[in-house]
Amino acid sequence: MSVEEVLILDAEAEAHERSIELFVTGCSGFIGTHLVGRLLSNGHIVTGYDLVQPQYAHPNFEFIEGDILDLERLQASIVKPDGIFHLAAQTKVPDSTRDPAYDFCVNAQGTFNVLSCASDARFIYASTSTVYGTASVPTTEAHPLRPVSFYGASKAAGELCCSAFNGILGLPTISLRLYNVYGPGNAKGVMYDLIRKLQRDGTTLEILGTGLQKKDYVYIDDAIDAFVLAYDKGIPGEAYNIGSGSATTVNEIAVLICELMALRPDVYRTGGKSWEGDIESTQADVSLFASFGWEPKIDIKTGLQHLYKWIQDQQ
Ligand SMILES: NC(=O)c1ccc[n+]([C@@H]2O[C@H](COP(=O)([O-])OP(=O)(O)OC[C@H]3O[C@@H](n4cnc5c(N)ncnc54)[C@H](O)[C@@H]3O)[C@@H](O)[C@H]2O)c1
Repeated sequence: MSVEEVLILDAEAEAHERSIELFVTGCSGFIGTHLVGRLLSNGHIVTGYDLVQPQYAHPNFEFIEGDILDLERLQASIVKPDGIFHLAAQTKVPDSTRDPAYDFCVNAQGTFNVLSCASDARFIYASTSTVYGTASVPTTEAHPLRPVSFYGASKAAGELCCSAFNGILGLPTISLRLYNVYGPGNAKGVMYDLIRKLQRDGTTLEILGTGLQKKDYVYIDDAIDAFVLAYDKGIPGEAYNIGSGSATTVNEIAVLICELMALRPDVYRTGGKSWEGDIESTQADVSLFASFGWEPKIDIKTGLQHLYKWIQDQQ
């Protein structure tokens, strides 16, 4: 073998061994924290971008404090990574009703900004089931997008920007329509609220709405499996439902939590709609993404145990 051939083989081997460099927006949030943890444990080099400092550090992790609305800072920060996971967003549905303009800035314009810095990176967008609005269940990806909250509309706008960058510029974008993601680290949402209420007063429990709202809850580790698999196997231009595939009512969650905490409170319900923009019934058809070999592994009882333990450990 000639010297040239040896050099070529060495260069190929080096390139093969080179760690994948990934950029994660929203790295300090609930899902971002878990995602970065997984990417680092998989041996990747990660740059995180967020308004707030994350509560973790790692030799292969660099944090950049920045706003996705600050295009210049984004351009300087995104230095040709292999992949981008775009999670930064205004994530609260009620806040999107109070201030829809800000919601649109962050979720639509912000997503456009990140896309415009992506070069040819593989781009995974954290979309949401709220893009469907009130949908027939189980919902497939073919269902029309008819959001009923400004949050849903702004996230759908972000998803459409991904489609445009894919269709027009060939950027390999993949959208994950996440259902309700729960688990350790999530200090919001119905499960967290019910547990905290019962910790404060174990004798009574207020449920917002009728308690009959029936939604698809997917455990954080299963959602993170989906992000990693989407990066490896997702088809550019596609959107995939990421849920558990089953639905649970708030009343059923309350029963599970009371069992877990060994409490028998008097339960009362406020009745009516829980909050503006809330969707009463969600359930994903996950067969499209399951075709890549993904399946949600953690049932709701086990997931709630992990969440409860995490809340106890915080105190
Ligand atoms: N958690 C869920 O159940 C769920 C469901 C569907 C979709 N999603 C999507 O997944 C993503 C992550 O959700 P999460 O639950 O981790 O939310 P989160 O609110 O915990 O995290 C969002 C992060 O984005 C950061 N951020 C907000 N505005 C920013 C800006 N202008 N510039 C830079 N960073 C900014 C926040 O500081 C925060 O760290 C979001 O895009 C959300 O829409 C989440």
